[in-house]
Amino acid sequence: MSRRPIGVFDSGVGGLTVLKELIRRLPNERYVYFGDMARAPYGTKSRETVTRFSRQIVRFLRTRDVKAIVVACNTASAVALDDIEKEFDLPVIGVVKPGAKSAADTTQTGHIGLIGTEATISSGIYENYLQDYRPDIRLIGKACPLFVSLVEEGCIEDPVTTEIARRYMAAFRDTDIDTLIMGCTHFPMIEDTIQRAAGEHVRLVNPAYETAKGLQELLTEYDLLNDEDIPVHEEAYKFYVSDAPDRFRRIANLFLPLSIAGAKQIAIEEY
Ligand code: DGL
Repeated sequence: MSRRPIGVFDSGVGGLTVLKELIRRLPNERYVYFGDMARAPYGTKSRETVTRFSRQIVRFLRTRDVKAIVVACNTASAVALDDIEKEFDLPVIGVVKPGAKSAADTTQTGHIGLIGTEATISSGIYENYLQDYRPDIRLIGKACPLFVSLVEEGCIEDPVTTEIARRYMAAFRDTDIDTLIMGCTHFPMIEDTIQRAAGEHVRLVNPAYETAKGLQELLTEYDLLNDEDIPVHEEAYKFYVSDAPDRFRRIANLFLPLSIAGAKQIAIEEY
């Protein structure tokens, strides 16, 4: 058992949708969240750049004495997870593999849609994992970069988001998909809009659920679960950002089941 915190990171606010599920499943744990607000979005950047950013963040999180790392960003999970696993002597889990497993378990037709950033779609990593689970699966990917900006602008239930969703979902119109992976951490924040545009016959998969389950298994395996009964309060969660702490706090308080007093800004390039 360990009272040390779990390190969670994302390019910005999107990973909060993952943190929310982690808290729901593992409420006894302490969390240190880092949002790279200064350097987001990651989804349009190269593999080398996202890997360098991810390494710096893990180095920073280690200074907070974390016992495990959750890469709560699809883009970083898609392109940097292998390097992080090799380089750091810590249990690490990303969101892509759990998302692929969840989709493989959900689909009946074997035809799955994937929406995410350009980097995630072009990495081909979801296909790789899906093939491992079920070789007959066919994946149709569609990059949806505008969703990230719309969420960050707070356009959650908004006609503009509805229209953009309608256009993006047209990519799946003549397909037989019955399952759609929300392969970007921002997307669960507009899940209802995506569901309406995709149609009720399509099951949406949020990789965060399976990630939380996977983290629980990982901590159990390493004997790192915290079984003390800690009350859910602010001190159990620490938030750090590379820029815009006020903006971060505003958006975080919209999506988390607790109120965040603030996020501390740090100079991530120094790590
Ligand atoms: N958090 C990123 C992801 O899940 C989306 C935002 C970005 O492009 O940085 O891919």
